[in-house]
Amino acid sequence: MKALVIGLGQVGAATAWLYQKAGWEVEGYDIDPDVQKKPWPKGDDWGGLDVYVPEKLDKNYDAVAICVPTPVDETHNVEIVRDAFKAHAHRGKWVIIRSTMPVLGCQETFNGNVVYIPEIRPVGYMKTVWPLTLIGINPYDRPPHEVISPYFSVSTVPIIRDYNTIEFAKLAINVYLACSITIANSLDECAVSYGVDYSDIEKVLRADPRIGKGAFVQAGLGFGGSCLPKDLEGFAHDTDNPLFDLLLSTNESHLDNVIKRIELALGGLRGKHLCVLGLAFKPGCDCIVDSRAMALSEGLVGRGAYVFEHDPYVKGSGISNARPEELAELDFDMYILATPHKEYFEMWADLEEGRKFSAWSNQWGCV
Ligand SMILES: NC(=O)c1ccc[n+]([C@@H]2O[C@H](COP(=O)([O-])OP(=O)(O)OC[C@H]3O[C@@H](n4cnc5c(N)ncnc54)[C@H](O)[C@@H]3O)[C@@H](O)[C@H]2O)c1
Repeated sequence: MKALVIGLGQVGAATAWLYQKAGWEVEGYDIDPDVQKKPWPKGDDWGGLDVYVPEKLDKNYDAVAICVPTPVDETHNVEIVRDAFKAHAHRGKWVIIRSTMPVLGCQETFNGNVVYIPEIRPVGYMKTVWPLTLIGINPYDRPPHEVISPYFSVSTVPIIRDYNTIEFAKLAINVYLACSITIANSLDECAVSYGVDYSDIEKVLRADPRIGKGAFVQAGLGFGGSCLPKDLEGFAHDTDNPLFDLLLSTNESHLDNVIKRIELALGGLRGKHLCVLGLAFKPGCDCIVDSRAMALSEGLVGRGAYVFEHDPYVKGSGISNARPEELAELDFDMYILATPHKEYFEMWADLEEGRKFSAWSNQWGCV
């Protein structure tokens, strides 16, 4: 079996990996000549992935997997996906759409042998077998087993439904997670006002089986990245339900509250020297799309503080990638663990022991 992967970013790499794992021959194409020359330069360890990038594309693939971006806003503009489909659908017996689609998007945009299999594994988990696979089909034209089987293995549960249900399900997961994070942050704000330590509350919530061990109940800076805000904005844009707008505005105002808490702890921000640890939108990755940690850093600078930015993964001007232990030697008015990458754990323990810290954070980075 032979697959062609269109768009060699995070999801393209994950897709090629799944096919290769299933023993398919995999070829790839990206519109960006730099990516085309050297697929997957973006930091994830894709060692061992063997994808041939041909000079000229063929017309006889068993599956063409489209993994191009959809815009990070609420407009649901699927033009890039539509164009990629027009340009490449004829090359394969089946087309697999991996790019996120809005509800009704597949039926309005595609025709022919099309399967919608959105990526639901988060950045950083792309090489993990996820316990769930969502598969959207045209019920009158079901794909053969071998075309979809690379997307699930024995340990994953495939949920196969019509396109609309799967589009809704993909977005619903992210809306639910964004909601959970926002509730945790709001509870944390209330806990502060009552003098209660929210980390105890978090333990209680996790211990309740109806909420669960893996629930997103850690308070922090708020949700960011390229999926949660985009998917929630889509819902807010398309429905009359006021909850979705409220979640978005609460996520914004929460960051202001965090800044106020830092300001209060320091007796003002002007002229203060702060070290922001972690800039990625979540631990363990280098992605800064809609990063709350970046927004926090900008907010602190906007209020007159001097901010030293550090992240072990994010490269960029003015961002230090020094070893975390070296930072513990420097002198700041406050260290703020904005994105708790695992690299900070030891350093944080040292800071705590020497009582050098003035602020701390949990998974999503709240002081
Ligand atoms: N990254 C994630 O964790 C994740 C998770 C779930 C869903 N998604 C969704 O998957 C899709 C892809 O996301 P990504 O993170 O891989 O994006 P990305 O930006 O990392 O990669 C997309 C790649 O597609 C290429 N491209 C753009 N237009 C093209 C075209 N016409 N032909 C060929 N190549 C083209 C770009 O050059 C880029 O290399 C998006 O719809 C996104 O919302 C991403």
